[in-house]
Amino acid sequence: MAEEKVSYKDLGFVNTREMFKKAMEGGYAIPAYNFNNMEQLQAIITACSQSRSPVILQVSKGARSYANQVLLTYMAMGAVKLMKSLGSPIPMALHLDHGDSFELAKSCIDSGFSSVMIDGSHLSFDENVALTKKVVGYAHPFDVTVEGELGVLAGIEEHVQSEKSHYTKPEEVEEFVSRTGVDSLAISIGTSHGAYKFKPGQPVPPLRFDILEEIEKKLPGFPIVLHGASSVLQEYVDMVNSYGGKMQGAVGVPEEQLRKAAKSAVCKINIDSDGRLVMTAVIRKIFSEKPNEFDPRKYLGPARDELIKMMVRKNKDVLGSAGRV
Ligand code: G3H
Ligand code: 13P
Ligand code: ZN
Repeated sequence: MAEEKVSYKDLGFVNTREMFKKAMEGGYAIPAYNFNNMEQLQAIITACSQSRSPVILQVSKGARSYANQVLLTYMAMGAVKLMKSLGSPIPMALHLDHGDSFELAKSCIDSGFSSVMIDGSHLSFDENVALTKKVVGYAHPFDVTVEGELGVLAGIEEHVQSEKSHYTKPEEVEEFVSRTGVDSLAISIGTSHGAYKFKPGQPVPPLRFDILEEIEKKLPGFPIVLHGASSVLQEYVDMVNSYGGKMQGAVGVPEEQLRKAAKSAVCKINIDSDGRLVMTAVIRKIFSEKPNEFDPRKYLGPARDELIKMMVRKNKDVLGSAGRV
């Protein structure tokens, strides 16, 4: 099938510029929830519509190939229609998470994304600048916003060894932003991806708010993004473990730290693992309690309902984005 170019404006999405401006002024952060399937998408829209929160629908490269990129465009169109049918509209952005090439970012922009991340954080500073600038050059004429990244998110090993070299270097941020023209910057201050962020049984090391403050001084009023921000909610880890799963030692970022970050220049908080965890916990419970159940709606439906509850609470108590529309 020949690919047709679609503008996000025709689909009914917005870019992140205005969202971030309001989030910065209001001292809250926009939730960026990842989705891969219909139930996750329904949950995000329902939760954000119910809690009157702006939202960023986030799609990784893996999610795009899992769902199929053509189908995904139609799902995104459907998402806008569903949101409108639920009441007065909330601003929604469709965002590429961790784009790893110019071609992928371009393909997303051409197929209706309103915002893209180009993640050159593993490259040298100059290579990161060159790649990010190229994406910005393509995105901005379409009024698509671009997120760049500086610093590498810590893994558990880095935490154990307290290696500081992967944290974002505040002395690099001004040059990166001015040379690339990015609209927001993802930084590394102690979060990491996945469900095993810190060493179990030990106090969770606080996020490096000192680095964040230095970055804010170098880039006043500039939107900052926090990846790896799942809290790995213990009640769901326990549920997984008590229904046959094995997630011992799963630990995330304490919610109070995220609330504090949301009040600062952090305007976007990325949450994926918490959603995966909630769905898995509910599905495991149902499989265990009702072993004869084989209608997917009977376990995906309750998993979706629990996801909605979790996201409504996050928007209200953690991100502070509830009631902002
Ligand atoms: O940061 C990565 C996101 O959680 C997406 O993960 O590449 O497995 O879809 P994924
Ligand atoms: P978590 O794995 O902590 O949910 O992080 C998600 C993320 O950063 C997506 O880009
Ligand atoms: Zn991420």
